[in-house]
Amino acid sequence: MGFKSGRQYILALELPTGATDRKMKSPQPNERGYKKHLAALKKNPGGFYIFEEPADETGFHPENFVDYECAFAADQIRQLHPRNLLDVGSYRHFILGLLAHFPITTIDVRSRQPICANETILTGDAKKINFPDHSFDVVLSLCALEHFGLSRYGDEFDLHADQKALGEMIRVLKPGGRMIFTTTIHHAQPAIAFNAHRIYTYGMLQAFCDGLLSFAKVMEH
Ligand SMILES: C[S@@+](CC[C@H](N)C(=O)[O-])C[C@H]1O[C@@H](n2cnc3c(N)ncnc32)[C@H](O)[C@@H]1O
Repeated sequence: MGFKSGRQYILALELPTGATDRKMKSPQPNERGYKKHLAALKKNPGGFYIFEEPADETGFHPENFVDYECAFAADQIRQLHPRNLLDVGSYRHFILGLLAHFPITTIDVRSRQPICANETILTGDAKKINFPDHSFDVVLSLCALEHFGLSRYGDEFDLHADQKALGEMIRVLKPGGRMIFTTTIHHAQPAIAFNAHRIYTYGMLQAFCDGLLSFAKVMEH
């Protein structure tokens, strides 16, 4: 699907079954190997000054919900070929690679400076996105909505900040554009783990996004 139809779309991620409960093997202490290797190194330091800093990261490669949400978002974006993108509640790690391909605007309540030419930074609250209606092909927001308004990151305390921000995200989306977001969700009563994050139900998010053409699935973590 492209951006030509007159409606907006929303997509979110459903985590593969078992992904959240996949247990990582704890790295086992590697004391004996460490000491043996250190002794060998000290005998032949090759010009390096040697000091001890034991590190043991053996076992499975670490993996958590962030891997899944980033993979999901990347796959959606790859299919969409956006000409521009707004990232709402933005760390920079996910968008760094994307910046090679198209302009990205970020909005975050915490300030930072742009790191390359394709990056435009707005510092402010996502409740008020200082852009005209229908500005972006894609609006992205990964694991951010559930934090808005709880003051964890220094934003104004506002228990409706999440709904207000979603309204803004929809407003700045072009007709036919896509909003991609992830957040916390479960099937019981909605909850606020104050002031870390909210936990929504699917129905709540669906209601917030009323008016969008389609509402898909939301990840759990
Ligand atoms: C958990 S991080 C989001 C992670 C990020 N989206 C990523 O891709 O890794 C939440 C971000 O939302 C930002 N934030 C919190 N409240 C905000 C608000 N009201 N308006 C804009 N940004 C906000 C925080 O500063 C923080 O960078």
